[in-house]
Amino acid sequence: MKTLLIVYHSMTGGTQQMARAAARAAATEDSLQVRILHAADAGERDLLQADGYIFATPENLAAISGVMKDFFDRSYYAVLDRINGRPYAVLICAGSDGQNAARQVERIATGWRLKPVVPPLIVCTHAQTREAILQPKVIGLKDLSLCEEVGATLAAGLVLGVF
Ligand SMILES: Cc1cc2nc3c(=O)[nH]c(=O)nc-3n(C[C@H](O)[C@H](O)[C@H](O)COP(=O)(O)O)c2cc1C
Repeated sequence: MKTLLIVYHSMTGGTQQMARAAARAAATEDSLQVRILHAADAGERDLLQADGYIFATPENLAAISGVMKDFFDRSYYAVLDRINGRPYAVLICAGSDGQNAARQVERIATGWRLKPVVPPLIVCTHAQTREAILQPKVIGLKDLSLCEEVGATLAAGLVLGVF
């Protein structure tokens, strides 16, 4: 059985909802195991045991979040040249931008020789003020359904062995 690993970090809940939506859709594939892990709990073993990945992170200070960066820092050389060619997708939750975080994940994934299966999905929560940024986020149904599409695409491709 193939395994899809979803690694996420979230401070105010937006990215977590996006990651869960992708996981929910992927889990409708019968012959696929879906693992969703907080970035602080994920590492080398989880990456090696999976056949494909979704990396989901907020954009903080024009970068992936620190906890997500720590996950990549801990894992990067541990799995380098051991996961080549596996498919991946990226989910970004941002206030108004998200491009830099997406680029960062893409560069890391390129170093790992992973294969992108869809363009990075960036969802903007339009939080700009101090109060709005610190508030818990609610991701709308339309954006959640885009996250579900990413999960379903990766899941179907893994099961069919098309990547
Ligand atoms: C410290 C900090 C820095 C942020 N920097 C950016 C940024 O550079 N670009 C952006 O679009 N949003 C930025 N945001 C907004 C977050 O990306 C936004 O609130 C998003 O919903 C966070 O995702 P989360 O709910 O999963 O934590 C920042 C938020 C925080 C807390």
